[in-house]
Formats: sequence, structure tokens, C-alpha cells
Amino acid sequence: MQNIQSYQEAFLNHLDTFIKPKEPTSLYNPIYYIIKLGGKRLRPTLTLMTAEIFGCDYQKALDAALSVEVFHNFSLVHDDIMDDAPLRRGKETVHEKWDINTGILSGDAMLIMAYQLFENYEPKVFQSLAKLFSKTALEVCEGQQYDVDFETRDDVTIPEYLKMIEYKTAVLVGAAMKMGAIVAEASESCQNSMYEFGKNLGIAFQLQDDYLDAFGNPETFGKQVGGDIIENKKTYLYLNALNFSSAEDKRQLEHLYSVNPSDPSEKIDTVKHYFISSGSAEATKKEIENYTKKAFSVLEHLKISEENKHILKTFGTNLMTRNV
Ligand code: IPE
Ligand code: IPE
Ligand code: MG
Ligand code: MG
Ligand code: MG
Repeated sequence: MQNIQSYQEAFLNHLDTFIKPKEPTSLYNPIYYIIKLGGKRLRPTLTLMTAEIFGCDYQKALDAALSVEVFHNFSLVHDDIMDDAPLRRGKETVHEKWDINTGILSGDAMLIMAYQLFENYEPKVFQSLAKLFSKTALEVCEGQQYDVDFETRDDVTIPEYLKMIEYKTAVLVGAAMKMGAIVAEASESCQNSMYEFGKNLGIAFQLQDDYLDAFGNPETFGKQVGGDIIENKKTYLYLNALNFSSAEDKRQLEHLYSVNPSDPSEKIDTVKHYFISSGSAEATKKEIENYTKKAFSVLEHLKISEENKHILKTFGTNLMTRNV
């Protein structure tokens, strides 16, 4: 098992082999722009780590890791159009730098490129990877559609929200890990345990993303702080603030989530105040911890070394306390 940094370095080297100047540049340049913008490279790192945990040279998993990262970046390009987001990783989003049509088509091409990377595996592994990928990608679409539908609904429940984030985010984290286990030809039960670990970690990860969207530091966060409030996203922060508030505060908060002011700064400040005063911000932190622990409990029954369990737990703990 290598350290996390060496997986990331190996991944970035592999990524460079993917970046080949190609015509039409108006299709490929936006793809390379978003992919080279960086990001935490969380998912590919998990794919490589998992492959090695099950005794496989991580190099064999590089194409699967790349596929997951290309798919993730595709989903961000389309997500930023859907969320009307101006900033990604501290830079202009693809549809802002170019235009919406460019975002749509470059995104589509990335989805296909992600799938194409599986062709580098022999038929049995190819089939397992492709099957998991198709299922996961469809679930991500379902999650994204729920996310958008919830913007204009005023009766979203917490179980519905949790299902939505499981689909839009967590299943891909689970799949990233399962792909590592598939390439390593680990047993089906080990593959499924890694998927469960990743899925629970992914739920914690999206809860943390929602928390940072409101409370992240604008200097370092890399995305527009308050973007979810502007878009009336029914996050865990919002739904719990409603649950914990007096009838009057609840009415105020619901009203704020029914208007779209041209200058949203006052709306953002007031909503954040409710998130804190209601106790929802604290409850969200607690829930992040709960899902992280749930992920760790999956490891208890897994037949991997204590050292590897420790590495996975350290990775999870760091993710839970991140600020970008
Ligand atoms: C952003 O994912 C979208 C979510 C699912 C929350 P990341 O936070 O992993 O984005 P990058 O790749 O590090 O920029
Ligand atoms: C992202 O959810 C989920 C997918 C991209 C599939 P968000 O909309 O919260 O992600 P960010 O905050 O824009 O990165
Ligand atoms: Mg978004
Ligand atoms: Mg979104
Ligand atoms: Mg977000």
C-alpha cells in the first residue's frame, strides 16, 4: 500500500496521457480545462487504494480510476449549468467561460469517454465495470432530477433528501471503490462491502458539501458560497432548520425559500442565521459524523488487514473535517 499522495501523483501522470489535443478544439478544450482544473481527486484515489487493498497493483486500476474522474467531471459540467453556478474550483465554470451549448456537448463527450476507458480491460472485468457504471450513472441522473424537483417543492422530507444525496453523490463514491475491487478480482462480498463503505462515506461527504456551501470560507472554498440558498436547495440544513424552528421562524424561512431576489446577500445572511440559531448547523455536523461512523462499521466484518482499515478510516476522518 502506497501513501495517498503517491496514488494522486500516479493518477495525475495517467491523466496527462488522456489529454491529447484534438479537433474540434471547441469540443475538447473545455473538457481538458475542467479536468485539469484540479479538485480533490477523491474518487480515483479511492479506486486505486481499493485495488491495492485486495492485492492488485494499483497501476491496473488507473483506467478505471480515470473513468470515474472523467464521469465525475462530466457531472459537474452539467450540474453547474443546472445550478446556474458561476465558479468551480476557484475558476469560471465551463458554461460561463464558453456557453451552455458547449457545456452540454463537451459534457456528453466526457460521459462517452468515461465509458470508453473500460475497453482497456479484458472481457470479464469490462463487463462488471460497465454494468456497475451504467447502473450508477443512471442513479446519478435520478438523484440530480430529484435535487431539481425539490427546489420547487415545499413538502420535501428528510428521508427523501437522504435518498436524493445517496443517488446524486454517494453511489459514485461507492462505485469508485467497488471498481477497484472489481479490477483486483476480489470476491463479490468484498466488492459489496467496499461499495457500502463508500456509499456511507459519500452521504457524509454530500452533507459536508451542503454545510460548506453555506458556511465555507469564500477565499478557499472554490465555489459560490450560498449557492444552495440562492437556488432554494432543500438541504439537510434547511429541512432541519424548519423542523427545529418556531411557527413564526418557520414561516419566515419558507418565505425566504420562495423568493429569488436579484441581490441575494441579505437572503443568504438571514438564512444562515436561522441555520445556526435553530441548531440545524450543529445537527448537520452530527449527522456527518454518524454517516462516517456507519461507513467505518462496514469495515468491522471485512477481511482486510488492520493497517488497511486504519488507512481507510484516516481517509474518512480527513474527509469529514475538510474545508474545500
Ligand atoms: C463536488 O465533488 C460535487 C459533489 C458531489 C459534492 P467534489 O467535492 O469531489 O469536487 P472536486 O472534484 O474536489 O472539485
Ligand atoms: C453535485 O451536487 C452532485 C453531482 C454533480 C452529481 P452539488 O450541486 O451540491 O455539487 P456542487 O456543490 O455544485 O459541487
Ligand atoms: Mg452544484
Ligand atoms: Mg447540484
Ligand atoms: Mg454542493
